[in-house]
Amino acid sequence: MAMQKNLLRLYPNSCDNILIKGLYLAHQLHKLGDAESPFVYANFLSSLDGRIAVEDAVQGGTHIPKHITTASDFALFMELHAQADCIITHGGYMRALGEGRLGNILQVKDKDLIEWRSNNGLKPQPAVVIASASLNFPIHDSIQEHAQTVHIATGRHADPERIRYWQDLGYNLMFTGEDKMVHGAPLIRQLSALGFKTIYLVAGPQMLDTVIREKQLSRLYLSMTHQLIGGKDFRTLLAGAMLGPEGNLRLETLYYEQDSPAGTGQFFMQFGLNRTA
Ligand SMILES: NC(=O)c1ccc[n+]([C@@H]2O[C@H](COP(=O)([O-])OP(=O)(O)OC[C@H]3O[C@@H](n4cnc5c(N)ncnc54)[C@H](OP(=O)(O)O)[C@@H]3O)[C@@H](O)[C@H]2O)c1
Repeated sequence: MAMQKNLLRLYPNSCDNILIKGLYLAHQLHKLGDAESPFVYANFLSSLDGRIAVEDAVQGGTHIPKHITTASDFALFMELHAQADCIITHGGYMRALGEGRLGNILQVKDKDLIEWRSNNGLKPQPAVVIASASLNFPIHDSIQEHAQTVHIATGRHADPERIRYWQDLGYNLMFTGEDKMVHGAPLIRQLSALGFKTIYLVAGPQMLDTVIREKQLSRLYLSMTHQLIGGKDFRTLLAGAMLGPEGNLRLETLYYEQDSPAGTGQFFMQFGLNRTA
């Protein structure tokens, strides 16, 4: 069982025999943000050649290649999820979920993690923020089934008909940009005003770009498998124009898991960023 495996800590202070289970829960992220400055974090899985997704020859678009995924990485992803009072996803994910192209990661499902939330004063499930310029996506039934609050973030110049559509259904629309797009600083400012303190960005390169460019990310978790996977059409961590100093990160921890994925290994890294409050 992957969750019983041990890790080697390489930085800081090298040390072996560190249990994977509980590794990220111990970070106590829910205590790091406050009313003025929420703690905003993201997690990505990448190959050694920087691919986070490759073209999907069957369904079109891109997908995370299965052979870079591991049980331990997914378990750590869920430990991060469990500490959030709010997750940020997007219209593209809601469409993929609705069409059954991707699995559902909108809720914390593991019993121990749900209990951990309850013991730590968090609601059973995080609120869901859906960022979208198109405003064209379905709401997945599981959100209502788990009584999760939904906020939809978009730009002031999104399609007025689509804005009305969601408002007529009673959803809270947050206007967080002057064009059709969401911008990182107003997004996090408005989420903070709603009382969210621990905000987990569960999205791809465009949304990571949106928050990093405007210096809104507090921490980046990155799992990097020691695989070169190639592929001509691929996605990497960021979309958009070149970054300046806002792209400078500081390594905070580095762990090594051997023989996972099988026949290779992976690093679990944690980087700090300077967030603008
Ligand atoms: N390996 C990993 O860790 C990892 C993590 C995440 C994603 N991925 C993969 O990477 C690929 C691309 O990621 P993705 O498509 O999920 O994510 P993305 O590039 O962050 O976002 C795409 C969608 O998000 C909405 N969006 C993004 N930025 C926005 C902004 N500033 N304002 C308003 N809406 C915005 C748009 O929705 P609308 O079209 O509704 O406007 C857009 O279609 C996928 O294959 C995914 O599976 C890999």
